[in-house]
Amino acid sequence: MKLLIALTLVLLAVGAFSQCTCPNSKWAVCDGTPCQCTLLVGSNDKQVVDCTKLLPKCFLMKAQMRRARMGNDARAPIGGKPNETAIVDNDGVYDPDCEADGKFKARQCNNTEECWCVNSAGVRRTDKGDKTIKCDEVVETYWLRMQMIHKPLTKAVTKEEIKTAMENAMLARYKLAKSFVKDVDYDPEGRMIVVDVKKDIGDRKEDLTRVGWYMEKDIKEKPQFVDQSPFEAMVAGQKMEMEKEKVVVYYVDEKGPEFTMKHLTGGIIAVIVVVIVAVIAGLLALFFIRRQQQQRYSKAQGREMDNM
Ligand SMILES: *[C@@H]1O[C@H](CO)[C@@H](O)[C@H](O)[C@H]1NC(C)=O
Repeated sequence: MKLLIALTLVLLAVGAFSQCTCPNSKWAVCDGTPCQCTLLVGSNDKQVVDCTKLLPKCFLMKAQMRRARMGNDARAPIGGKPNETAIVDNDGVYDPDCEADGKFKARQCNNTEECWCVNSAGVRRTDKGDKTIKCDEVVETYWLRMQMIHKPLTKAVTKEEIKTAMENAMLARYKLAKSFVKDVDYDPEGRMIVVDVKKDIGDRKEDLTRVGWYMEKDIKEKPQFVDQSPFEAMVAGQKMEMEKEKVVVYYVDEKGPEFTMKHLTGGIIAVIVVVIVAVIAGLLALFFIRRQQQQRYSKAQGREMDNM
């Protein structure tokens, strides 16, 4: 009897132990009773995380930077905008300052003297400045456009089928309600899929930037999930995978970015100067050519008069 109780206890303990994992992040470490999971975000800095949800992007980015310092990953994208104010993350990963709840702080400095303001996805939305730069608020990203290329399929599929497939895949993989998948565009020739994930302006409950981070990792690099199975969607009975390195993410915020036109202005001034110089040179050339022609003409006329 005693043996049976002991065995049951051991089994229970093993059961509890195996329960203590973080399926939503391979970088998280879990232990203790009650089970607690943490992410190593600094050299000796453990961040407690809630593994029942996708983890905050800010914590993950911090963890990635720590890993990169130990010797790991990198990235860089390019592409076409959903609207005028959309921005792309050209800076890549930095070591962010996070709030206790995993939100990005409005001002980021990457541990340097150079600082800038970010949106809720941690993407830079102002020029870089020094430590005195003022960032009044974290502007919310309410719209993510994710552009990707799928691997060839044996049978042609429609835009509607792709939309259904993406909605299902994102619900299953990221627990993203289908209502957030607002629009899906599809170019069969280029095998390009454009997914617009959008929430209402003012919505502070759903954090789309987490979905953005997980999906980007899934498609570009390696899944953040412990389960390393690739992102794939079932389209009309066919398994559809994405081409690696081909995803582009656009961020649209409740307030547009505030980049000054410094570089652009310089370029425009240069163009204007070149055009003016060219016009003046042209006019001068024309003037001299005409004067020469006129002189020749009057000389010729003079000789004709002499002949008469
Ligand atoms: C942040 O700093 C790291 C070096 O610590 C550097 O590799 C990275 O490019 C920086 N990122 C940005 C966005 O400045």
